[in-house]
Amino acid sequence: MGKDKIRKFKENETFSCLIQPRTDEVFGKDHPLKGHWGDKVFGNDRPIVVELGCGKGEYTIDLALRNPGCNYIGVDIKGARLWKGAKYAHEHQLPNVAFLRTRIEFIGSLFGPGEISEIWITFADPQIGREKKRLTSPLFLSRYRCFLKREGIVHLKTDSRYLHEYTHEIARQNGLEILACSTDIYGKAAAKVLAGSFFENGAVPAMADGLEDSGAYRHLLSSPLASVCGKDAVDALFQVQTFYESQYLAQGIPITYLAFRIDHDGEYICPDWEPDRWLPAGNQ
Ligand SMILES: C[S@@+](CC[C@H](N)C(=O)[O-])C[C@H]1O[C@@H](n2cnc3c(N)ncnc32)[C@H](O)[C@@H]1O
Repeated sequence: MGKDKIRKFKENETFSCLIQPRTDEVFGKDHPLKGHWGDKVFGNDRPIVVELGCGKGEYTIDLALRNPGCNYIGVDIKGARLWKGAKYAHEHQLPNVAFLRTRIEFIGSLFGPGEISEIWITFADPQIGREKKRLTSPLFLSRYRCFLKREGIVHLKTDSRYLHEYTHEIARQNGLEILACSTDIYGKAAAKVLAGSFFENGAVPAMADGLEDSGAYRHLLSSPLASVCGKDAVDALFQVQTFYESQYLAQGIPITYLAFRIDHDGEYICPDWEPDRWLPAGNQ
């Protein structure tokens, strides 16, 4: 392991906002924090939003700074990435941010029934050909259903048309409620990559030029998502960009978005769909 990684791992141990359960604390058994994030970590009973695969945690931090009335937990397995967000939350004493270093596969041992209000999945690996590892597969949705509140929302923001279409088909074929769907949220709007973020500048970045007149933005504003979460939540979709998102945007890759509910009785069925249509070049 490189010196820089060792230094970050050591520093991680000093951050009270970073929870790093050992495997034996979550493998096949419940962690003591399960059902107690409100009282033991945040000291309040405000809604809790989770970002799965948060990487360095920019999205978690930015959303938390905008919405002090909610608590945010960024989850990832990579300690050296989490270090960045955890250090920021620690140094700025952010009361509504925590990070959790664990495999998402163990998440059912960490959150209790109805404990989480919303889930964000941001730029997850599409896991082509490995459905059991895909974060929106029936296997993972059934895990999320154990702790997501009824009517809780799953947000999927991705550069992968494959993951987007797969998830859309799961939602459609299982009769899940879709609140918003776009295959190119930024459309032709110029200057799509934001110059910094709330997290970096302490100020809400301006919307990209032309975005407010774009069809995708107007479509999202008239979607059920806007009625449920409000215009600010729609605007935040554009004003908060993850690390990977800004890189994909710089390369001109369309960013897709899907918001849906996972309330469903019984098993989720695997979608009957045409993956070949959505495979990126080189995967066919
Ligand atoms: C492509 S990166 C995206 C990071 C961040 N969301 C962004 O957009 O900048 C995917 C992240 O998901 C994490 N990840 C993937 N599978 C995971 C799993 N099963 N459990 C925990 N973390 C996982 C990886 O460690 C990585 O940091």
